[in-house]
Amino acid sequence: MTNSNYKTMGQQFGRRSWAEPWKIKMVEPIRMTTREEREKAMAEAGYNTFLLRSADVYIDLLSDSGTGAMSDRQWAGIMLGDEAYAGSRNFYHLEEAIRKHYGYKFIVPTHQGRGAEHLLSQALIHAGQYIPGNMYFTTTRLHQELAGGTFVDVIIDEAHDPSSLQPFKGDVDLEKLEDLIKREGADNIPYVSLAGTVNMAGGQPVSMANVQALRELCSRHGIRIYLDATRMVENAFFIQEREEGYSEKSIAEILKEFCSYTDGAWMSAKKDNLVNIGGWLAVNDPNLFDTLRNLVVVFEGLHTYGGMAGRDMEALSLGIEESVDDDHVRARVEQVRYLGQLLIDWGIPIVLPIGGHAIFLNAKVFYPHIPQDQFPAQVLTAGLYLDSGIRAMERGIVSAGRDPKTGDHRYPALELTRLAIPRRVYTQAHMDVVAEATKGVFDSREQTTGLKMIYEPKQLRFFQARFEPVGFRA
Ligand SMILES: Cc1ncc(COP(=O)(O)O)c(C=O)c1O
Repeated sequence: MTNSNYKTMGQQFGRRSWAEPWKIKMVEPIRMTTREEREKAMAEAGYNTFLLRSADVYIDLLSDSGTGAMSDRQWAGIMLGDEAYAGSRNFYHLEEAIRKHYGYKFIVPTHQGRGAEHLLSQALIHAGQYIPGNMYFTTTRLHQELAGGTFVDVIIDEAHDPSSLQPFKGDVDLEKLEDLIKREGADNIPYVSLAGTVNMAGGQPVSMANVQALRELCSRHGIRIYLDATRMVENAFFIQEREEGYSEKSIAEILKEFCSYTDGAWMSAKKDNLVNIGGWLAVNDPNLFDTLRNLVVVFEGLHTYGGMAGRDMEALSLGIEESVDDDHVRARVEQVRYLGQLLIDWGIPIVLPIGGHAIFLNAKVFYPHIPQDQFPAQVLTAGLYLDSGIRAMERGIVSAGRDPKTGDHRYPALELTRLAIPRRVYTQAHMDVVAEATKGVFDSREQTTGLKMIYEPKQLRFFQARFEPVGFRA
């Protein structure tokens, strides 16, 4: 599993250096484009990086979801797919890997994370109920709302402050949660929706102390806790690094302990679990499992494949094993930090502390002259693409969507552009290119103008919305 005392070769001798714990066996060429080509592609995509063709992208940091590189073992596992309609042997391998590393009893496979969110929300939420969580995530909240619930943000205030250096900005504010329980009653709260390394807060972790205290509070009120385990391995790394009493524990041990304070979890396996597609739900309550097993056959597939092929499940179970390796997680987070540190050194405003899976550029500070309803973070994604063919994602007002009651934009405190780093894909040299491109865009920020939304889908609008520059005339 890991090498001695979880130390890198460099650390064993008191040196700074570290390196990826793998070497490259297969390469995929990427294409550089001219400024002219990029301008054309961006206009055709309606200034939305989701609508670009990947062939027109040079370095793709749109998402760390499903974009990682599988290992040679995982590719070998693909050849061992048992594509039986029912009872595939790969499902049992998956079940075993989840039980071993996450510790839950009952497993329901799904095609990806949102499939699991759908099933859990439908199984547990009744119309009019409240679901507290440590900051919203787009698909998670939407499924809670579609089930008739209302999401309530109970993350600590520091999470909304991009410059706060609090080491665990993903923590739940227990007072906010207690207030909600007092106001609405425990019976109106089906569960707490807890996420590891909170994506929308900039990849910020939750401490072990916080989940322990949350467990105690929830048990007192008979409220369950379900965990979005999508990036929980990366969360375990931050606990190992920052929390007293955990520096000698392995990522695998920390992960399992954290999960033990929760009642179950859902997973987008496309992130931590190192596969291109897949997801799962895992719970300890046999009655809930029964409901979920009924639902999965309606929406995803039979309960032993849930929308995945047998080969996908094999790659996933091997991915789970690889994902908890200390060397792997350290290299992954250190690469993100390498990029972040370059940007900090050049005075570029990013969310601090640097998170686990991505760098979040603070678009409000980039473009103080662009009002939030002219989409500064979206403008910044366009700028990075136009500069160097780098694809990033908006995580601000466009992602936040509209309030279902008032119909107005939600105006989030954080207006961010995310540079998500795929796992085991890019080298340090790619990070240098990204850093210099970001600096180029930062240096020309004063000449930049806003965008106008000219097409807006009803749900999850950030995926397909179209924009044009303010003042544009055809
Ligand atoms: C924190 C978090 N939860 C859930 C999901 C949804 O998972 P999927 O994209 O696999 O449907 C994502 C995906 O980006 C995520 O980042």
